[in-house]
Amino acid sequence: MFMVKKKINGNEYYYLNENKRVDGKVKTKTLAYLGKTKKEAEEKMEKILKDKNEIKSEMENKKTEKKIEQESTKISIEEMAVYCKRKGFVYQSGEIYGGLAGFWDFGHLGSELKNNIKKEWWKYHVHQRNDIVGIDGSIITHPKVWKASGHIDNFSDVFVVCKKCKKASKIDRSELGKVKCINCNGDYDEKTAKDFNLMFKVTVGESGESYLRPETAQLIFTNFKLVQESARMKLPFGIAQAGKSFRNEIAPRDFLFRSREFEQMEIEYFIKPDSNCPYEIPDEEILIYSAEMQEKEKSPEVMSIKEALKKGIIKKDWHAYWLSIQFRWFKNLGANPKNFRIRQHRKDELAHYSSDCWDLEYNFPFGWKELEGIADRKDYDLKQHEKFSGKDLRIFDEESKQKILPNVVCEPSIGVERSFLVFLFDSYFYDKERENVILRINPKLAPVKASIFPIIKKEEFEKMAKLIFDDLSKEWNVSYDESGSIGRRYARNDEIGTPYCITIDEESLKNNDATIRERDTTKQIRVKIPQLREIIRKLIFGEIEFEKAGKNFE
Ligand code: GAP
Repeated sequence: MFMVKKKINGNEYYYLNENKRVDGKVKTKTLAYLGKTKKEAEEKMEKILKDKNEIKSEMENKKTEKKIEQESTKISIEEMAVYCKRKGFVYQSGEIYGGLAGFWDFGHLGSELKNNIKKEWWKYHVHQRNDIVGIDGSIITHPKVWKASGHIDNFSDVFVVCKKCKKASKIDRSELGKVKCINCNGDYDEKTAKDFNLMFKVTVGESGESYLRPETAQLIFTNFKLVQESARMKLPFGIAQAGKSFRNEIAPRDFLFRSREFEQMEIEYFIKPDSNCPYEIPDEEILIYSAEMQEKEKSPEVMSIKEALKKGIIKKDWHAYWLSIQFRWFKNLGANPKNFRIRQHRKDELAHYSSDCWDLEYNFPFGWKELEGIADRKDYDLKQHEKFSGKDLRIFDEESKQKILPNVVCEPSIGVERSFLVFLFDSYFYDKERENVILRINPKLAPVKASIFPIIKKEEFEKMAKLIFDDLSKEWNVSYDESGSIGRRYARNDEIGTPYCITIDEESLKNNDATIRERDTTKQIRVKIPQLREIIRKLIFGEIEFEKAGKNFE
């Protein structure tokens, strides 16, 4: 929309116009009269744009609400593991040898979904922001890194064995003598309880010793100054990393939820000590469970994160900002906001490096559990690395003309596999009418973006369908399917979340077009083949409504 000035009988008038493409031609339409002076026109235009944005965001909210009404079908973690194995998302690692507890392999669909999650995370946190850059550090690094970080001395759980069922479990030191065995409610043997460090030791070269990294975060700290200098970052700024982490968990459990090899996506966000957050805090409502609520045994409350900051429930604006940003990432990708809450760590839970920590929790089938930790690490890590390396990690602050050691005010740290479960649980839906599972996953995350079918097995149909496959596969993971009835092919794709099925039928041969069928509504449209790739792209990115993307087709 834009403002134009017209002269009529020597007088000036301002109008609001819009250009629209109709049948391939650009046409200008006048939307409103704005007034006789530029000032009056600008004020009126601002109001119109504001109203339009409010209506748009209301429509978007309604769309989200409508989606949430179609709740997913609740299944247990064991049922999810069975589905994941059956469809080729996840297998037990080394299954033919009996499997190894805490290790998982991702199949042809799981590897795609995992990559899509990481890609979307990187896009949202690194590419779409000016203040964050990414790195990819090594999995094995200098052992002194882990001495400095405190992992060698502190990264341990208490290993206990149940006197009754003899199963090993991990507990916190504060729980010793207070909690019962989670498998059989028996007593843990206090005499054999011992500290158990969770890092995997490895031999480097012939006799050197180091560890597989238990978190990706430390590589960000050790590279902090190099990255700041080479990327010319100015405070506040963040460094992101996504990759494998390894923890020798005493009792891996709940499928992917607690494993020994997993992936993390982490950001260390550095600020000038005590500086405020300069960014607008997104207005997000969520279930909030502060340390005080937990200590006073009160229930969590639904509240806007901004309001929680105003009331002092969340102490730092930075925490309010990052909690909202992280929650929004899940929401934008179709997760159900009702399954999320934020919970503050009580004092007895805080990690050795952290002065305040909020977790983004998800209501898994086995209860509310940590999905993402957002800790305030202050200058703990940089100070430790200065101490152990003898290197000056301070950076020059233009404002004060002094060297300063930045604080990490927030460390959003999330597990890829836990996010993987969240997206699967929130999109898994058993449709009674269709008598089939429909994985209603966001198209951006869907492992297969489109499946292309010739309606019958005949050369002319197959040839055309294969040409479409060749074209779309330049951009996305798509599939070609010619076996079984069309209904069976739809059902197979619905079950793995393919958002669009494209069919070449009799009409296609005559008109050079194809049908697209939408997974969630089963509605169909016809589109011309030369426009197909662009339309699929717009549909994946949510830039066009399905029914407006082509001619309706029954
Ligand atoms: N650098 C901070 C850090 O590592 P954390 O709370 O220990 O913090 C962050 O881990 C996230 O990593 C968790 O919220 C979770 O999503 C994931 N995670 C941690 N341990 C895991 C495990 N054994 N299996 C799967 N994911 C795990």
